[in-house]
Amino acid sequence: MKKLIKWCAAALLVAVAAMAVTYRAVNRVPSADMPQIDRVYAIFEEGGCLSCHSADPKVPFYAKLPVAGKVIMKDIDSGYRAFDMTKFMEALKTGGEINAVDLAKVEKVVLDNRMPMAKYYLVHWGSQLTAEKREIVLDWVKNERAAMYNDGLVGDRAAEPVRPIDAKLEYDEAKAALGFALFHDTRLSVDNTVSCASCHALETAGVDNHRYSHGVDDQLGGVNAPTVYNAVYNFVQFWDGRAMTLADQAAGPPLNPIEMASPSFDDIIAKLEKDRKFAKAFKAVYPDGLTQANLTDAIEQFERTLVTPDSRFDNWLRGDDEAITAEELEGYELFKKYDCATCHVGPNLGGLTYELMGLRRHYFAERGLELTVEDNGRFKETQEERDRHRFKVPGLRNVEHTWPYYHDGTRETLEEAVYDMGLYQVDVEMTDAEVAKVVAFLKTLTGKYNGEYITSDNDREHIDAETDHEH
Ligand code: HEC
Ligand code: HEC
Ligand code: HEC
Repeated sequence: MKKLIKWCAAALLVAVAAMAVTYRAVNRVPSADMPQIDRVYAIFEEGGCLSCHSADPKVPFYAKLPVAGKVIMKDIDSGYRAFDMTKFMEALKTGGEINAVDLAKVEKVVLDNRMPMAKYYLVHWGSQLTAEKREIVLDWVKNERAAMYNDGLVGDRAAEPVRPIDAKLEYDEAKAALGFALFHDTRLSVDNTVSCASCHALETAGVDNHRYSHGVDDQLGGVNAPTVYNAVYNFVQFWDGRAMTLADQAAGPPLNPIEMASPSFDDIIAKLEKDRKFAKAFKAVYPDGLTQANLTDAIEQFERTLVTPDSRFDNWLRGDDEAITAEELEGYELFKKYDCATCHVGPNLGGLTYELMGLRRHYFAERGLELTVEDNGRFKETQEERDRHRFKVPGLRNVEHTWPYYHDGTRETLEEAVYDMGLYQVDVEMTDAEVAKVVAFLKTLTGKYNGEYITSDNDREHIDAETDHEH
């Protein structure tokens, strides 16, 4: 008996040793002779990432088994729901453009050592991201990010996922001046009462601070108005991304029946033609005169000026250690720790992808309001089930002044908006102290337009009481 136990123990030892050796042999680090990007591709390919993060997963044979199969299919479903990695892998392979959000997400799971999960790599030998592999990936991320932006950051801060705003984007001054006039021109509306600035006043952070905007005849829209400041950084416009450019976007509100309700652009143009002085000034800049394309181009040129550089946080990014306080810096560290800086990245801290609202917890089920058409988000445009409740991520510049928050305008304070982001997007219940720090950080993102800090002179209590609560 004793002998048998000894024998078994010895056999077990040998087996474990053999496993360890095989495991090492299987979990090879891609050769250092390969270009860095190819090594990263090989690591993720070996890591099985696409098995769970694509529309067309490679389902292993044992996924057909009753118990194991259920677990696997669930991981594949929620993996793809959380992150589609196809474009990222394609870009690695072809040297194409990498999305800054994808880069930040991949960086974060590698930093936290979250992917692939143990239950996967224990079965798929070789897929684990060992310390050595993680170092290769993280090195590459740093280089990739530095190359992605041409914003002059140097040293450690060149690797930050949040980027400063360029002082000036290129635009045509004469056209922008016309665009400024049009932006403030109520003749774009059917009864000459509403201009773009009615809902996006430059003095009130480019928003109206209402839950829903008020159009002609005081009609109410069904979604919260985002700011026009820094909209130029968005990859598409509107919560659902239905306009590809600012000019496309500008063609929407004038004809929108509840916003400006003009019957047609011809109608608007006829009104503007009657204004001899304006028509002449316009023709001087656009030789073919007043057309829809020219009007919306002028507005786009003006909106290219609506950037807000020189925030305190940007000064910190550019190397001024004194620009923000220790508490604000802690807020930024929490913002990164809790994954906020995976969706909210780049110069506008957002505007680069569509993301699911309620990634980790059922936002809409818990909201206590009926679902609206607008709640469908990107789905409205594509009719693809995966896009339901996905929204273009809002930018967070000047966010202290752009209340109320979310597409449905349901969060009145920044504290609520931040706490609930933790809950619904990240599955973390932040303490009051943590929320306060993140909010303090967010307030350092307030920048300047024409040399003056963005503010809002809207009186919060007055507006809330006056208009929004009846709805
Ligand atoms: C067995 C399936 C599976 C594999 C393999 C896998 N993932 Fe995931 N991944 C998931 C699931 C499930 C989630 C959602 C986690 C959650 O909601 O808690 C996820 C989430 C993510 C996210 C989104 C951030 C987050 O935490 O929600 C990223 C980024 C990610 N994975 C990257 C990777 C990378 C990179 C690899 C390869 C190294 C990988 N994954 C391999 C299943 C997988
Ligand atoms: C009645 C109020 C109202 C008027 C007038 C109005 N907007 Fe808006 N604006 C909104 C609302 C509400 C949204 C969000 C709509 C959506 O996403 O479906 C929006 C969205 C936008 C966006 C997209 C921002 C982003 O982050 O996606 C831009 C840019 C914009 N408006 C510019 C303009 C311009 C230019 C005009 C004038 C031609 C104008 N708006 C007129 C209320 C208004
Ligand atoms: C998975 C992507 C994702 C993550 C992670 C995420 N957000 Fe968001 N964030 C969004 C989306 C999408 C919205 C818009 C939601 C809506 O309108 O219903 C949003 C909205 C916001 C808003 C409101 C902005 C406005 O103008 O309405 C704030 C503030 C915000 N997020 C902060 C944070 C903070 C702080 C964290 C970390 C705790 C975080 N977010 C994590 C995607 C994300």
